Parts: sequence; C-alpha cells; structure tokens
Amino acid sequence: MKSIVILISGRGSNLQALLEASLPCRIAAVISNRADAGGLAIAEAHGIATQIVAHRDHPDRDSFDAALASAIDEHQPDLVVLAGFMRILTPGFVERYQGQLINIHPSLLPAYGGLHTHARALQDGVKIHGCSIHFVTGDLDHGPIIIQAAVPVLMDDTPATLAARVLREEHRIFPQAIRWFCDGALSLTADGRVQLSRIEQPGTALINPSLD
Ligand code: GRF
Repeated sequence: MKSIVILISGRGSNLQALLEASLPCRIAAVISNRADAGGLAIAEAHGIATQIVAHRDHPDRDSFDAALASAIDEHQPDLVVLAGFMRILTPGFVERYQGQLINIHPSLLPAYGGLHTHARALQDGVKIHGCSIHFVTGDLDHGPIIIQAAVPVLMDDTPATLAARVLREEHRIFPQAIRWFCDGALSLTADGRVQLSRIEQPGTALINPSLD
C-alpha cells in the first residue's frame, strides 16, 4: 500500500475530506508550517501523527524547505499532498518530489493562479469558476492538471458564497485524484504529462446563464 504525507497551513477542510474518504493508502503524517493550523486537531482526532515545521523558525526559503524535506523523508512517502499549504516552495524542493507532489488550487487553472481567486473571478465577471488538482512544477500554481470541477458563478455571489460552492467540489475531486494515484492509475510522465488510465469522459456542458 502506498503512503502519503499531507502538508497544511490552515483550517484543514480538504484534509478532513481526505481523511474521511477511506483512501487506499496509509496517511503517514500531517505536517503544518503553522502551529495554530486548525487542521492539526482534525488529524489528531483521526489518530494521524502531526508535526510542525514552522517557517518562522527558518531564516530563508532554502533552509525551511530543507527542514520540511527532511521531515517528509522520515516517512518515505510515495506522494506529498499540498492541502491548503500556503508557502511557495523552492525549485529544488519541487524537483526532489517531481511526480510525487500534488496541489489543490481554488480556480480553473491556468486562470487565477495565486491568491484571492474568487474575488478576482467575480471582478472579471466570469460565469464559470472552479478548482483544480495538479502536479506541482516550478511554475507557481501551474503544472500538469489532473482533474478540475467547474461551478456556475451566480449573480448575487460574494467571494464567500462562491468560495463555499467551489470548496464543496474541492472536497470531491481531491480524494479522487489521490485515489487514482494510490491505485496506480495516475502518474506524471518523464516529459511532464499527466497519464491517467481512465477512459470515461463527460458529454455534458455547464452553461451559465442557462439557455432559454
Ligand atoms: C482551499 O480553498 C484550497 O484550495 C486553497 O486553500 C484552501 C484551504 O482550505 N489552496 P482548507 O484548509 O483545506 O479548508
């Protein structure tokens, strides 16, 4: 059975979705860069070992990433999962876990990398927004996309209501991507493409506003 390490920085609702998904893997540890991350209590309640590698204890990104890598490597995981981990990782770190590092991002990449994705989508007046799971590369919030979920943007949405609609889908697609990886159905090829041994494709379009 494969094993994974999950990195968090905050509330941990995606972590919770992963812990409740009965994934076909061993969750070796949850590591946070913040001691006050709400997700730590969620991990502990599920009997998962937690560890804090505080970015504030390190003078620069390189030394933080080195400490983080050595904490991860103690568990020899097959996959490192960024579940709301809010630190920019150095190219060396990303390279070390090439094909073994997966992130969730609250937008339909490659649109809206970075922060405040929901407010920016509302500002632009897009009618469809969503979330993406992708392999991490040196390109912040980009990288080969594994699965995306699209949601409609409603006329009276605020960043909070839109975020909640997207978050519900995050909690569905994130466990799916990790299940594929742990089942051996998903990998990153040497030339940086997603390989997924799954042929079902949807035949429906999401149109917003809907047609008359
Ligand atoms: C999620 O929206 C995730 O997409 C983003 O940060 C948020 C983390 O939420 N990267 P949570 O800690 O999983 O509740």
